[in-house]
Amino acid sequence: MTKHRQARIIGTGSYLPERILSNHDLEKMVDTTDEWIVTRTGMKERRIARPDEHTSEMGFHAAKEALASAGISADQIDLILFATITPDFSFPSSACLLQARLKAVNAAANDIQAACTGFIYTLSQAKAYIESGLYQNILVVASEKLSSIVNYEDRNTCVLFGDGASACVVSSKGDGLLVRDVCLGADGELAELLMVPAGGSRKPASQETVCAKEHYLRMEGKEVFKHAVRRMEAASKQCLDRVGLKESEISWLIPHQANMRIIEAIAKRFEVPSERVFLTIHKYGNTSASSVGIALDELLKSHKLQNGENVLLTAFGAGLTWGASVLTSNRDEASNG
Ligand SMILES: CC(C)(COP(=O)(O)OP(=O)(O)OC[C@H]1O[C@@H](n2cnc3c(N)ncnc32)[C@H](O)[C@@H]1OP(=O)(O)O)[C@@H](O)C(=O)NCCC(=O)NCCS
Repeated sequence: MTKHRQARIIGTGSYLPERILSNHDLEKMVDTTDEWIVTRTGMKERRIARPDEHTSEMGFHAAKEALASAGISADQIDLILFATITPDFSFPSSACLLQARLKAVNAAANDIQAACTGFIYTLSQAKAYIESGLYQNILVVASEKLSSIVNYEDRNTCVLFGDGASACVVSSKGDGLLVRDVCLGADGELAELLMVPAGGSRKPASQETVCAKEHYLRMEGKEVFKHAVRRMEAASKQCLDRVGLKESEISWLIPHQANMRIIEAIAKRFEVPSERVFLTIHKYGNTSASSVGIALDELLKSHKLQNGENVLLTAFGAGLTWGASVLTSNRDEASNG
């Protein structure tokens, strides 16, 4: 009998710029306080990229680390999927720029846009390609230079976001984290809750749009908050049901790192103890698509997962989009090429 092909994460990596923007720094820029930011969001600091550290460059550093951790070379990659809402250019894709930088000469490459759910959307496509047999090794990259679309005069948004990148290699062969399932959703009726109003084909950039600051991110924070909790909970439940896991079998919860109060609400609904909720929010803020990938990489670097441990990823973002994925540590089984 032919064995069903399975997708595994066989290596991860991440990259954070060196420069730290602390809450105290922000106190000098807008009318805010460290106390407000910590109590309302859980954030203490975030990283900000240098001018020459663009999105594909940060993605490159994360990708190099993921390839090294997977033990494969760039020319073994068949496909690069790059999640971002802050690409280097409208086109060509950041995936193609990364393909050249990595010399991944055998790889096809394209970007995926699902905002903060980008890592999970991209993982889902990688899983489907691997299981279909079309590709063997896929490089998933999520990288964001949110500082390029944040208005540092708007206290409602500028305290929330940071820059950074994450990557993983998804493969049909090798040990790692089995991608058990991925559940995705979207509601474009709510597109206006979180968007960059100008710079696209509907409202091309002009002197007027720049003067009106429409090239910056805008958000209805309270509304987004409500949907975030509901949607991440539903996607997570659906994903757990589909793989037949009970809530008590979640070994690690990695939620999108957008707001500590959202994270706590999700953890409470699934009764995951706080020491099993992996956090980076206090040091990196919300890095959009990169967020869950950075946390996953840091979890794997700081803890040796036992066989059979289950990791629940969940995220939501502009679109609106949302998703969840269940990964199971599976290091000893024979690979399944
Ligand atoms: C943005 C967010 C932190 C705001 O927290 P909140 O508790 O909802 O706060 P509100 O929006 O009700 O604002 C409360 C007050 O704080 C003020 N405020 C907003 N930002 C502030 C800041 N940085 N410092 C001080 N005060 C601030 C508001 O102006 C408002 O003042 P007002 O009552 O005088 O109008 C929260 O709504 C949130 O995290 N939403 C989800 C955002 C998100 O996840 N986005 C990313 C999606 S991927």
